[in-house]
Amino acid sequence: MKKTIGLFLAGALTLAMTACSGATPAATTSGAAGTGKKALTDIVVGFAQVGAESGWRTANTKDIQDSFKTAGIQLKFSDAQQKQENQIKAIRSYIQQQVDYIAFSPVVQTGWDAVLGEAKAAGIPVLLTDRAVDSKDTSLYVTFLGSDFVLEGKKAGEWLVEQYKDKTDPVSIVQLEGTTGSAPAIDRATGFADAIKAESKFKVVASQTGDFTRAGGKQVMEAMLKSQKSIDVVYAHNDDMGLGAIEAIEAAGKVPGKDIKIITVDAVKDGMTALSEGKINFIVECSPLLGKQMIEIVTKLNNGETVPARIVTEETTFTQEQAKAALPDRKY
Ligand code: AHR
Repeated sequence: MKKTIGLFLAGALTLAMTACSGATPAATTSGAAGTGKKALTDIVVGFAQVGAESGWRTANTKDIQDSFKTAGIQLKFSDAQQKQENQIKAIRSYIQQQVDYIAFSPVVQTGWDAVLGEAKAAGIPVLLTDRAVDSKDTSLYVTFLGSDFVLEGKKAGEWLVEQYKDKTDPVSIVQLEGTTGSAPAIDRATGFADAIKAESKFKVVASQTGDFTRAGGKQVMEAMLKSQKSIDVVYAHNDDMGLGAIEAIEAAGKVPGKDIKIITVDAVKDGMTALSEGKINFIVECSPLLGKQMIEIVTKLNNGETVPARIVTEETTFTQEQAKAALPDRKY
């Protein structure tokens, strides 16, 4: 009851302030957080993870679990096995258990309004981590912590443009897309297309989902190698699909990184190793290390402080030489 009243008052206050200033609020509070600070060890966070589809995801899960353990905040964890209905079930169960906060990385962008509305009605603040939802109602979540996926795709495309700047022949590109309907698949395709669109020599001749898995990348690449007359470049939305593509390319008697150039996103250890061996040509980093920032957000909200509505993860890119230098210290 206390929580509901607190949420109502905080919402009313935000509305009143926005109406007075005529401005869009740049930051938001947890709503319930102002009503009473808890000891960190008493806070319970329910986290609905996407699955274990990639090296990135495994590193993300480990980092979050380790960070919560170190901070002494209780974490309830569920693995949705890349199914939206499982994530919705997990969120409903966290609402029933009356956790203090719900965090989740939405497997796809749409279809969350109903369940997030239930969390809001229960006075439980929601944190989006890694992936965004596509909802008009931004009051359904407190903050979105994660990468700028459009920028990642743009960096991949810009590298390609630079590599082929002196060439005039057509460049045949195949794209291995992430999970259909997911924010990284949509945004990485958009950013890449945007970066190459000014030059008509770049042609995306095939684009298909490999669901962010190594097996998916291998299977799609095998089919593309059979169906396409020639392939110059593979753009894979993550390392795992790129690594699967390498297996398919080698099995077809071609040399990955030479006969066919490969660009991926993530920069996990296996991807960086392939990059340092010359089998991948360029990797755009996507950092899975979100645990520490999640703890900071929860701590601030618990203290009744504001957090930004959007927190963008810092990331870089790697060439083959840079991968060799970075590999010895790579933690995941
Ligand atoms: O949402 C982040 C993406 O999800 C990573 O790039 C990919 O490896 C993972 O499965």
